[in-house]
Amino acid sequence: MSITTDRCRLTPVQASDLPDVVRLRADPAVRRHLGGPVREEIVRKQFVEMLARPQAGICWAVRTLKEDAFVGLVTLDDHHEGADTEVSFELMPEFWGLGYAAESVGAALAHARDTLGLPRVVAETQASNTRSRRLLERLGMRPERRLTRFGAEQVLYATE
Ligand SMILES: CC(C)(COP(=O)(O)OP(=O)(O)OC[C@H]1O[C@@H](n2cnc3c(N)ncnc32)[C@H](O)[C@@H]1OP(=O)(O)O)[C@@H](O)C(=O)NCCC(=O)NCCS
Repeated sequence: MSITTDRCRLTPVQASDLPDVVRLRADPAVRRHLGGPVREEIVRKQFVEMLARPQAGICWAVRTLKEDAFVGLVTLDDHHEGADTEVSFELMPEFWGLGYAAESVGAALAHARDTLGLPRVVAETQASNTRSRRLLERLGMRPERRLTRFGAEQVLYATE
């Protein structure tokens, strides 16, 4: 299901999004806290899984309403530990610092709560990822605990 916000449209990823997703995942700034840039052939494999998401979760491509410019990806999927649904997000750097993450991730959380009826959504972010943590706190998520995953300290945030 697509979601429209003040400035954006979130649409479940489709085949035509591949070049933008390759660009997003190749960007060192975007991937700084996410294990580094991803090579195109790996992104192509990840993309096949994204397209198959309807069973496991939702991966939305976010685009501006005005120019149809690619803003990034927002995803709801199973958390690594299984019990919870996790929201994750990667935006192109040219859209940072303008409130697009708050707008699109906020819409995904509202969708999880109001449409999917999920009382609880989590987000896991590197402790050193200050932008991501600021966003989650601005969206009303609370830090619940710290853990080590992928060789780095992570903070697990939750909506409740
Ligand atoms: C994490 C990430 C999504 C955060 O993006 P962001 O642009 O900082 O977040 P927001 O959209 O909420 O923008 C917030 C900023 O926009 C400003 N802003 C400007 N116009 C605004 C508006 N209309 N509405 C809201 N905020 C606005 C805010 O004041 C805030 O400024 P600040 O950064 O100086 O505090 C982004 O940095 C990213 O994609 N990083 C790479 C991937 C990543 O690490 N993902 C997390 C993995 S867990």
